[in-house]
Amino acid sequence: MRQGIKAFVFDAYGTLYDIGSVEQTVEAAFPGYGSLITAVWRMKQLEYTWLTSMMGKYEDFWVLTKRALDYTLRSLHLDATAHRVECIAAAYFHLRPYDDARHCLDGLIAHKRAILSNGSPAMLAELVKFSGFDQCFDRVLSVDTKQAFKPAPDAYALVGETFGVRPNEVVFVSSNGFDICGAKSFGFTVIRVARSGDRDKAMRRRVDERALFDLLRGRAETLNYTADLTVRSLAEIPHIFESPGA
Ligand code: LAC
Repeated sequence: MRQGIKAFVFDAYGTLYDIGSVEQTVEAAFPGYGSLITAVWRMKQLEYTWLTSMMGKYEDFWVLTKRALDYTLRSLHLDATAHRVECIAAAYFHLRPYDDARHCLDGLIAHKRAILSNGSPAMLAELVKFSGFDQCFDRVLSVDTKQAFKPAPDAYALVGETFGVRPNEVVFVSSNGFDICGAKSFGFTVIRVARSGDRDKAMRRRVDERALFDLLRGRAETLNYTADLTVRSLAEIPHIFESPGA
């Protein structure tokens, strides 16, 4: 797998950054609803990327993130004033990186490293700066340049256009089922990070909203395009690509 790889490209939300970290903000605003709102909000946010794409009515990810929160709050008959929505949605600018992210990025320092995300340029710039990852990436690519959300091939094509590499020279890392599927279909070598693994046992006993989210979005899709490899932690990735004798 390690032969001919020229770039490592990471999904942002759910892969490098924990989207669950907005739950604290949500819970503080709406006690008792933290986990439900967080899960529905994220599901709706992605759904809106697909809906607007299919309608040919692109709006950037920040706008859709707010629209999805607005939908979620209204559906639960909670306060959804524009100001409230704006303040809570801002939590997406300051997500916590997963503990294994820095380790992985440092371990791949000899390679080209990039983010390819649905996030708007402003969201991604703040996310990377806030987490102190500024030096970790050669490029932070937003699909906004193409006005096409993943899993559209145009979105993944940005990597080749930026680095001058072919799809089979790229390792793409994601925890999102739809993204893994899209990246594999595009021709990348794909590593799936199984973020939900630890909760598997608990899930069999009780399906709460977080478990439901994992079931819908954290699993490998059954669409013929599966990851080349699944890891439990990003920290495993540099070892897989270590050159022999290095
Ligand atoms: C992203 C979403 C798909 O970062 O997680 O692009």
